Amino acid sequence: MPPKPAAPIRPVFVNLGPRSYTVQVGSGLLAGMGAELAKKMMGTKVAVITDSNVGPLYAEQVMDSLRQGGKEPTLITVPAGEESKSLSCLDTVCGEMAAAGLDRKSFVVALGGGVIGDLGGFAASVYQRGIPYVQVPTTVLSQVDSSVGGKTGVNLKDAKNMVGTFHQPSHVFADVDTLKSLPKREWNEGFAEIIKHAAIRDASMFDVIDQVAQGKGDLVALIRRNIAIKASVVESDEFERTGTRAILNFGHTIGHAIESAAGYGKLLHGEAISMGLNAAAWLASKVSGLTSVELERIRASLAAFDLPLKLTDDITDEEILRRMKMDKKFDQGAIRFVLIKKLGEAFVSTDVHEGHIKQALEELRR
Ligand code: NAD
Ligand code: GLY
Repeated sequence: MPPKPAAPIRPVFVNLGPRSYTVQVGSGLLAGMGAELAKKMMGTKVAVITDSNVGPLYAEQVMDSLRQGGKEPTLITVPAGEESKSLSCLDTVCGEMAAAGLDRKSFVVALGGGVIGDLGGFAASVYQRGIPYVQVPTTVLSQVDSSVGGKTGVNLKDAKNMVGTFHQPSHVFADVDTLKSLPKREWNEGFAEIIKHAAIRDASMFDVIDQVAQGKGDLVALIRRNIAIKASVVESDEFERTGTRAILNFGHTIGHAIESAAGYGKLLHGEAISMGLNAAAWLASKVSGLTSVELERIRASLAAFDLPLKLTDDITDEEILRRMKMDKKFDQGAIRFVLIKKLGEAFVSTDVHEGHIKQALEELRR
């Protein structure tokens, strides 16, 4: 008897009323996406936005699949890396969309990691005042986090994600087959956001994370579990107004400042977030009752994926603090800082001051 095909993984539905969509997770999704989108998307012209690493690996398959679904795709490729999350790159991308004749019925497919998802989603949200887009995330980080929730945008020189929009995708295809070509460092960085989800919402996930770090455990189930966490947080506070969605920023206030102070492209996003998580967890152990055992659990999980915990001397406190003050999380001089009381339970604190941040940075240098 031929082996029974593996049961398809239940998609995650992101319930946002008229902006609801489905996140499909699993294997072999790229080949079938054209047929799915033929039913779903009205427009014929499509811009497939990708980067110079991902394009050569997967663009042809995606373009073929779209053509089979009756679409007319145009490929737009930007240089790989965080530097492409810029206004000048947005200008180039929108120019190429116009040159390809995309109209208001057309749509974008963002094929790549979080950089492409954020840039492609932003381009879709502003092109002709907004057209739909589809996320095809190809990194662990983008599958578990950035492809879901509709935050799009680009960086300014000194400030991450400073210009952007909320624009939900129409569909997400998280094809785990694409993760096989990820280099080790890019694979590892994705686990920073998974460890963040465990720390803020799902303490029991630490055991699974540890298994996956040892090459065991069910990666696809772990990815789906993280998408479900992200979806449920976004559903309860889509536009980050109530403080619920803000908990996803755990580790990001310091992490984003470190990422931009290092110079975009020096540290991968997840690496900067790993330091930010270490700093935020240490602060939680000083301010909000996190035990030293819980702090060490977070640190050990980050270390299990070779993620950096310590700051190097080329990144100064002054530069980090200067950039932190430009962060959107600063509200009239006060920081809205995410802390945890215990593993799995996060809250937004207004009790963290510059002195605390300086101590946390000192801790990252010890
Ligand atoms: P990335 O998009 O730069 O991808 C990392 C590297 O992996 C790149 O060099 C890329 O070319 C390469 N790559 C991607 N997929 C590949 C594959 N399948 N095989 C081989 N190489 C591949 O970075 P990322 O870590 O995916 O995303 C980080 C970005 O996401 C940051 O800009 C961050 O701000 C953003 N982000 C956004 C949100 C959100 O909610 N919108 C959430 C978290 C992070
Ligand atoms: N990555 C933070 C958010 O989506 O809100």
